[in-house]
Amino acid sequence: SEVEYLNYDVLSDFGWEPGDDDLFGKAAAADLDEVDYGAFEVHPGESLLEAAEDRGFAWPFACRGGACANCAVLLLDGELSMPASHVLPEELMERGFRLSCNGMPITDELKVVYNVKHMPELDDLLL
Ligand code: FES
Repeated sequence: SEVEYLNYDVLSDFGWEPGDDDLFGKAAAADLDEVDYGAFEVHPGESLLEAAEDRGFAWPFACRGGACANCAVLLLDGELSMPASHVLPEELMERGFRLSCNGMPITDELKVVYNVKHMPELDDLLL
């Protein structure tokens, strides 16, 4: 699977919102650093976080076990499978929040905003 990623910090820098039309098009046109915007492959059996780390990126995490939400990402396209037991409430799952530490891509292409742990929605979940 190919994952296109964007750092949540960039959104506030540019005044963008996760729901903006063509958010990733704007990111592609903004000449961002590779740390903040780009794409990589996730191999079968790898979690999204493992794949990011394998490519040399330092995405946020803490527990690596689905219990803290520090590794949360917002999925704008595609799907990540997740184990049944994890910290995200159904309401946030419906809005596209997933965990990168135990989420494995199940679609060929994904678009994710990573580093979303600072979004107010996740305040109560961070340990
Ligand atoms: Fe804690 Fe992913 S690192 S839930």
